[in-house]
Amino acid sequence: MTITVRKMFFDIENTMDPFFVDNDPEGACFLNAISLVLPYLEPFLIKSFKRALPYVRDPKLKENMVLFNKQEAQHFKQHQQYNEVICSHYPELAALEERLQQDYDAFLKDKDLKFNIGYCEGFEAITTGLSLAALDDGICQRTTGAAGDMFRWHFMEEIEHRTVAFDVYQNLFGGYFYRAKMSVFVLRHIGSFVMDAMSIMLKQDKERIALEFGGKKGAKERLKLFLRTELGPFVRALLHPLSPAYSPYKIQIPEHILKLSEKYSAEAVEILC
Ligand SMILES: [Fe+2]
Ligand SMILES: [Fe+2]
Repeated sequence: MTITVRKMFFDIENTMDPFFVDNDPEGACFLNAISLVLPYLEPFLIKSFKRALPYVRDPKLKENMVLFNKQEAQHFKQHQQYNEVICSHYPELAALEERLQQDYDAFLKDKDLKFNIGYCEGFEAITTGLSLAALDDGICQRTTGAAGDMFRWHFMEEIEHRTVAFDVYQNLFGGYFYRAKMSVFVLRHIGSFVMDAMSIMLKQDKERIALEFGGKKGAKERLKLFLRTELGPFVRALLHPLSPAYSPYKIQIPEHILKLSEKYSAEAVEILC
């Protein structure tokens, strides 16, 4: 898989239903919470890589870091527009976003390059696993409309650039324990934001969920389905980077995900590089 920078257009309407996952309001809130993180986190990745770039000697890795940054810039711009629609439904989310901005500003100001690159790799490793789980018979099979398409495109590009942050970390610092420690840090940092954002959305739409999605019985059935089909791959994706043997080079990418690269290249408004 090569790293291709695609400029995309997704027709996200202001009136779109935030519950864009078939019969799964909790799943939709989970993806919407992840989307909220991205316009804060992805600029942090880009800035961290720009700081690391002068210390990297390998010309191929330098080239990949530039492509990585260009892909991430496209991602957060798309999610910024999407999040305006989500936040217009859930005004309480604004305070949470402020918290994220402060965190990333503080990391860039107060933490050293090893911490910030360790964070980038922790996030990228978890994202690779979650993207694979979502695209390979996971939640992306049930997402609908332009929002569903945007998430599929983003997850596919996360898989395309899955080795870059790992290579930067290994090239500049290396070492298993610090990498694993940063994976745990990222899980806790982003996990707590996602839980808080989901709870705001689910609380606000509690009555709608009860009326339209089968009340407590519906929620129980959805939970049973999640536990039976998606929990295993989800947990494996979160824990895989904690293994000393973890390497994104060892991950097998299913053929249908490889084909998504071609699909989104064909649908791009423009291939930037
Ligand atoms: Fe991204
Ligand atoms: Fe990424």
